[in-house]
Amino acid sequence: MSSKINVGVIGGGLMGREVASAFGRWFALNDSHVNPALIGVADVSADALDWFKSVPGCITLTQDYRELLADSEIDVVYVAVPHNLHEKIYTDVLDAGKDLLAEKPFGIDLEAAERILSKVANSGRFVRCSSEFPYFPGAQRVYNAASSGKFGRILEVRSGFHHSSDLDPNKSANWKRQSATCGEIGVLGDLGMHVCHVPFRLGWKPNSVYAQLQKGYPERPGGICDTWDNAMLHTWVEVEGSGEVPMRLEMKRLAPGETDTWFIEVLGTEGGAKFSTKNPRTLWTFSRGSEQKWSRIDIGFDTSFKTITGGIFEPGFPDVLMQMWAAFFAEREGVLGEHFGCVTPDEALFSHKLFGAAIESQKSNQSISINYE
Ligand SMILES: NC(=O)c1ccc[n+]([C@@H]2O[C@H](COP(=O)([O-])OP(=O)(O)OC[C@H]3O[C@@H](n4cnc5c(N)ncnc54)[C@H](O)[C@@H]3O)[C@@H](O)[C@H]2O)c1
Repeated sequence: MSSKINVGVIGGGLMGREVASAFGRWFALNDSHVNPALIGVADVSADALDWFKSVPGCITLTQDYRELLADSEIDVVYVAVPHNLHEKIYTDVLDAGKDLLAEKPFGIDLEAAERILSKVANSGRFVRCSSEFPYFPGAQRVYNAASSGKFGRILEVRSGFHHSSDLDPNKSANWKRQSATCGEIGVLGDLGMHVCHVPFRLGWKPNSVYAQLQKGYPERPGGICDTWDNAMLHTWVEVEGSGEVPMRLEMKRLAPGETDTWFIEVLGTEGGAKFSTKNPRTLWTFSRGSEQKWSRIDIGFDTSFKTITGGIFEPGFPDVLMQMWAAFFAEREGVLGEHFGCVTPDEALFSHKLFGAAIESQKSNQSISINYE
């Protein structure tokens, strides 16, 4: 018997709608312990709220999120708003006694993230941060293989997320391109958590970073754009049994030809693995025997939480978003087991420490040590 969980969404834009869609086909998941229902949405935009009129069971549509938080029927709140609003709204959600799936970057900067963390610690609520790409079956295979110790001495790690969303100069300026609303960290806050989730979970937190940051068009229709668009973070990370290993973290909104490519590669002396969402059912593994060999495996729809979808098919963004929510609910219920868990508040804080050091590195043109204490 699965327990009903009532969810409210604050911020009914791009991501708020994706969540409505994930819950709308929850029956596709086999053996879910929960039955989530989106019962209310808050958004300052009447147009954004209008869209949710077609979502069955979504009865509260309000422009004031405090109305949603006052609803005692709501157990969990998902917040997907511009970064300058994270701290205030996350804090209000916790004060209202709700559990929270927050969006990255979990506060506009390090100071905001620290304040959110201390609120989380005092609230006793279950809180996680969104990052769905590691729920691609290929990404999970890379994670499992990298944790197995079978790669020998790890030689290098590469984790990245490439968009080309900013290549068109006529695309209008929006909040993601302005420091006041996106944060000074720009693309690091926009795409960085996606890139750090798997390495951090493997215990690979950079000791130091040398950053190369690039800006895009300074002005677009509708306004000034002052955030970093591309980031290459050259880091050193301590890997157990391998010593210091170079790890490159790449986040780009100006990557020619890439619409939405998340990837991870881990290479060692004995073995390696790589996965990219460009080929969503394909895993590449490296092995070294009498000959060196890259093998391509079509793993299909081998998701962590099983669904009705045939194993030969390929997974996509809506599927992994649903997997991430399944992990959130499972961990909240204490039944995560061997499944890969969502980003913890601590991991979100670590990412801010790394991004803060990256900004310092860009300014000084030097490698910066990072202290996670
Ligand atoms: N996990 C992912 O893959 C992913 C993808 C894109 C964005 N995001 C994150 O999700 C968050 C939102 O991004 P988005 O792309 O959905 O943005 P968006 O601009 O599409 O939507 C944001 C919504 O928030 C609403 N809003 C603004 N102020 C509000 C307030 N005070 N109360 C209620 N609603 C308010 C806006 O009207 C808008 O509808 C950000 O933190 C972003 O980094 C995550």
